[in-house]
Amino acid sequence: DMDLAGKGEKVFKKCKACHKVGDGAKNGSGPQLNGIVGRAVASADGFKYSGPMVDHGGDWTPERLAAFLANPKGEVKGTKMSFAGLKKEEDVAAVIEYLKTFGQ
Ligand code: HEM
Repeated sequence: DMDLAGKGEKVFKKCKACHKVGDGAKNGSGPQLNGIVGRAVASADGFKYSGPMVDHGGDWTPERLAAFLANPKGEVKGTKMSFAGLKKEEDVAAVIEYLKTFGQ
């Protein structure tokens, strides 16, 4: 859904200080997010994750991403992601749709 992805590009402005996507995206204060939808949790090469994020395990399904983005510190207790979360369910859906447009 490109309209939702377009809205997600705007929402992603809240993430950009810490996360990059697209060609040549590098880790910053947060890991690069290419291919994050379906990617293994805590698997960006060279990024030093918190223990709680490593322990979260498995893959980032859309459902698990939605839960994390709505309430990062509630979903992954002890995460070092300093972000309060997205209050609007529609913003969560939109940013996930945007992130789907970037492969590995
Ligand atoms: C981790 C998304 C905002 C810093 C993550 C992960 C995702 C994510 C999916 C897990 C990555 C993985 O497993 O490889 C987002 C999105 C944001 C956002 C979509 C905006 C809506 C931010 C902001 C910061 C930040 C603003 C910095 C102030 C981090 C850090 C981690 C992380 C440091 C690693 C957490 C840990 O190891 O516990 N983020 N993030 N993020 N993010 Fe964000």
